[in-house]
Amino acid sequence: MSAPQSGRLVAGMVGGGAGADIGKTHRYAMRLDGKYDLLAGVFGRDRGRSAALAAELGIPADRAYGSYGEMAAAEAARGDGVDVVAVATPNDSHFEIARTFLEAGISVVCEKPLTQDSATAAELVRIAAEHDAVLAVPHCYSAYAMVRHAARLVRDGRLGPVTFVDVEHASGWAATPLELLGHKQAGWRTDPDVAGFPSVVGDLGTHAYHLLRYITGLDAERLSARLKTVVPQRRVFDHATVQMDLDGGVPARLWASMAATGHSHGLRIRVFGERGSLEWQHEDPHHLTLQDLDGTTTILTQGISTLSEDATRLTRVGLGHPEGFLEAFANFYSDLAEVLRARRDGTVLDGKLPGRELSFPTGRDGLIGVQFVEAVAASHAKDAAWVVPASALPELRKTGL
Ligand SMILES: NC(=O)c1ccc[n+]([C@@H]2O[C@H](COP(=O)([O-])OP(=O)(O)OC[C@H]3O[C@@H](n4cnc5c(N)ncnc54)[C@H](O)[C@@H]3O)[C@@H](O)[C@H]2O)c1
Repeated sequence: MSAPQSGRLVAGMVGGGAGADIGKTHRYAMRLDGKYDLLAGVFGRDRGRSAALAAELGIPADRAYGSYGEMAAAEAARGDGVDVVAVATPNDSHFEIARTFLEAGISVVCEKPLTQDSATAAELVRIAAEHDAVLAVPHCYSAYAMVRHAARLVRDGRLGPVTFVDVEHASGWAATPLELLGHKQAGWRTDPDVAGFPSVVGDLGTHAYHLLRYITGLDAERLSARLKTVVPQRRVFDHATVQMDLDGGVPARLWASMAATGHSHGLRIRVFGERGSLEWQHEDPHHLTLQDLDGTTTILTQGISTLSEDATRLTRVGLGHPEGFLEAFANFYSDLAEVLRARRDGTVLDGKLPGRELSFPTGRDGLIGVQFVEAVAASHAKDAAWVVPASALPELRKTGL
């Protein structure tokens, strides 16, 4: 395992090759707080393409492996081997890959659904315990600050005893037969051998059910489900409605769909209690709506000072900045990197940097900002008279200074 003096953990990845969906999200997420270094991986079944991506990610060549079996053996034998491996491959391979690392004593983050049946999922849980390794599943919606706050409110009795829960993960991403057009993710998600015939339940229903359990602390005691295939000729079910009795007989309803026409992500939960209710939606993740018995509606915003510690410890940017602020900053640095790289690598063409019409603000934009401030101040000093900012003066427009 990695040297104890390092604050950073050593991570590996299986899956997440070029063009894959969720693997890159794992990589961004690992980088964000600087707690992991991704130093080993198998990014697909094609050795050459996997090695090319590994090189791009700065992974040492001797730790870009040809198969997960080779990787587990080699990493377990190293004094500075990986602390954890993220498994981001299609569902039918999760069990074998996760088992291989867990048996080598290496902790695993395994994508959902954990495996294709409960016997193999239970087997993984048992192997992890036997080998003293952590097994984690990224049902990541429970990591939103406002979801944590919702869970805290329910736990603390803010809503009173829970009376009903309504959760849906009803997305419209596959409301047409994308699988017939060669869409990679739709291809395996509609293949019953890879995704299972209740595909949408494993894919989206597991997220919705986890969110329900996480916020309420309740599990299903029994359920009644109907599965449907909305898109003609699809080989798996793409729509599911489930009635549940949760612990203590609390009724609940879950809808999972990949064919909810016009919906984008479509994850939403509402929890009703004797004294109030709450609602959270993934499309507006930094708000949590509370409604009291008398009809009063309160909208809580991520970052306000009255939130629970469970939520505030997960808030990176201050009040006023929604989710997405960090990504906007990343876009700025990414655009800047294009120019810095071209200068460093001497790939400036015809004396010009690789330009985009829309890219990062430059020093000139900063200058215009300062000129704007001066013009505002000058106008104020003259009782709001009209003032021409220096940036608009024809001679300065020409030179840009
Ligand atoms: N937690 C979430 O929110 C979330 C979101 C999307 C997908 N997922 C899950 O993540 C997994 C991957 O989904 P995806 O949409 O990214 O799939 P994908 O098809 O886009 O990517 C899968 C990747 O795994 C690679 N791969 C396949 N077999 C491999 C093997 N034996 N060794 C090494 N690499 C291998 C493929 O080459 C590809 O790069 C699925 O289980 C899916 O359910 C989870």
